[in-house]
Amino acid sequence: MNRKIIISPSILAADYGKLAEEIIKVVNAGAEYVHIDVMDGHFVPNISIGVPVVQSIRKVTDAVFDCHLMISDPIDYVDAFIKAGADLISFHVESNSDVSATIKKITSANKKAALVVKPKTPIDVVYPYLKDISMVLIMTVEPGFGGQSFMSDMLPKIKSLRQEIERQGLNVDIQVDGGVDNETASLCKDAGANVLVAGSYIFKSADIKEAINVLKA
Ligand code: DX5
Ligand code: ZN
Repeated sequence: MNRKIIISPSILAADYGKLAEEIIKVVNAGAEYVHIDVMDGHFVPNISIGVPVVQSIRKVTDAVFDCHLMISDPIDYVDAFIKAGADLISFHVESNSDVSATIKKITSANKKAALVVKPKTPIDVVYPYLKDISMVLIMTVEPGFGGQSFMSDMLPKIKSLRQEIERQGLNVDIQVDGGVDNETASLCKDAGANVLVAGSYIFKSADIKEAINVLKA
C-alpha cells in the first residue's frame, strides 16, 4: 500500500543548546513534523521539555508540532500546549485523564488528537476512540528515554490496528516511536505505520537529509 510517509524527528536527541538551529535543520531536510517529548518525571522517570520551550521554538518554523505528552494529567495541560503552538497532541491511554474528555478538549480547539499506548498496553483499548482521533502512537520502547532498542514484538500491534482502522473505514495515522532507524523503519511501514518518529537515528547521523530520505524510502 502506498501511504505517504511522514517523518517526525524527536528533538529529545537534539542539542538543546542550539535547539532552534537543530529544528530548522531537520525541517529543511524534509521532516514534516517536529516531535516534542514532554515528560513530567512522574508518568515517566525523566523530565524534558515544557510549555515555554514550545512557545519559543514555535517562532522558528511552521512545521507541524507533534507534542507527545508523557505526563500524568494531560487534560490539565492541553490548553497551555495549544496556546504555545502545538498542532497535534498525543496523550497516553494509561494517564489519569478521561480519554473522551481529553480528546474533546483537543479537537474542540481545532487541533489534532492522538492516543498513545505503552508497549504492555493492548492495542484494542484504542478501538472505541478511533473515529474521534487523527492518529494512534504505538510506543516501540518504554517511554522515558531516547536511544533504546526497538521492540519488534510491537509489530503485530501495528498490523492489528491498521486492519481495524480499515475495517472501520477510517483514515487514522499510525505513528511509531522508539528505536526507529534505517532497518526498523521498513518493518514498521510494512506493518502499516505511516508516521515515523526518530530521535537518535536522525540527530546523530552525519547526513540528516540522507537519514530522513532513508526513513521515507
Ligand atoms: C521516548 C520518546 C521518544 C524518543 C525516541 O520516550 O517518546 O520520542 O525520543 O528516541 P529514539 O529515536 O532515539 O529511540
Ligand atoms: Zn515520543
